[in-house]
Amino acid sequence: MSKSMTVSYEGIPCYEIRLEQDFKNLIGQIKQLGYASNRKICIVTDSNLAGLHLNELSEIIKSYFHTVISFSFPAGEEQKNLDTVQKLYEQLILNHFDRKDILIAFGGGVVGDLTGFAAATYLRGIDFIQIPTTLLSQVDSSIGGKTGVDFLQYKNMVGAFYQPKLVYMNLSLLKTLPNAQFISGLGEVLKHGLIKSEAYFSWMQENKSRIMELQPDIIEEMVFQSCEIKRRVVELDPKEAGERALLNFGHTIGHAVEKLSDFKLFHGECVGIGMAAACRLSCNFGHITEEECSRIIDTLVQFGLPVSVKGLSQDEILAVSKSDKKMAAGNIKFILLKSIGNAYINPDLSNEQILAAISSVLEG
Ligand code: GLY
Repeated sequence: MSKSMTVSYEGIPCYEIRLEQDFKNLIGQIKQLGYASNRKICIVTDSNLAGLHLNELSEIIKSYFHTVISFSFPAGEEQKNLDTVQKLYEQLILNHFDRKDILIAFGGGVVGDLTGFAAATYLRGIDFIQIPTTLLSQVDSSIGGKTGVDFLQYKNMVGAFYQPKLVYMNLSLLKTLPNAQFISGLGEVLKHGLIKSEAYFSWMQENKSRIMELQPDIIEEMVFQSCEIKRRVVELDPKEAGERALLNFGHTIGHAVEKLSDFKLFHGECVGIGMAAACRLSCNFGHITEEECSRIIDTLVQFGLPVSVKGLSQDEILAVSKSDKKMAAGNIKFILLKSIGNAYINPDLSNEQILAAISSVLEG
């Protein structure tokens, strides 16, 4: 079993996404990129992976490259900042990395975003490879070249669009991923169906048990279909001038909940809450029926995602949503559903309309 697709950037084939069950084809893929074995490699990872799979990956990379170092930082969103990037730059300088050398991002979204940003900026840009290990990073953050870190209280405020040379997934690593993180990734997977493909959303519903049992063939199909949707969107609009914003479905309220809960809820869980609110709003507008709204919310619940939150007020969620950088000239660009599988951008919502959606996901 193995699947792949090529992502184009500005109409030109740019990098391959490989879905594999192990690391057997990794060196072959890297060799195809034409790298000489005397290039230095730095594997960037976090404390979760360092204790789990880093040695295995390191040994594989060392079977071809002579100089392989690793840089590991404590796991968690609070480390996704310029201090961590600075420590990585220092390691690269101490080890005499030059413009021909390569970074490998080995981990989830935080590792991928931070490593990509360091790669984009070290010596004005060196190559990097994504080896995403969480479902969320496999279907979302490793694809499309968004890199960056959080700055002050703002998520992803400093960054660059910078494409990887290869995205290589070893899907068997999902077996060691904590269940809550797997479910968080399912939030982004279900989002892809909701914004772009009713057929895929239905397929997810039909295959729920096999997905939750992590059956390899079904997981491969799910990740492949999700990556296909993401690929099509980022190819059409790599720098988020329009269409790519659809990927932010559930994220306006989701990001606010994530921040207000001090990142104690996983990203995909907050997106689940945000999607429930956006569906309620889509229903209030008469785009989707009550039945469709219930179908979506029930499906999110069946996949283990939260669809409501306790202990937050609607006003604070609105205020934080409005401070999000995705606002255009003071207006929130809210993503709504015209129907299941067909999202659109609505930049003209009133505070009252947004508050109604927020209150629909508040408990107590
Ligand atoms: N994760 C949203 C995007 O890549 O645009």
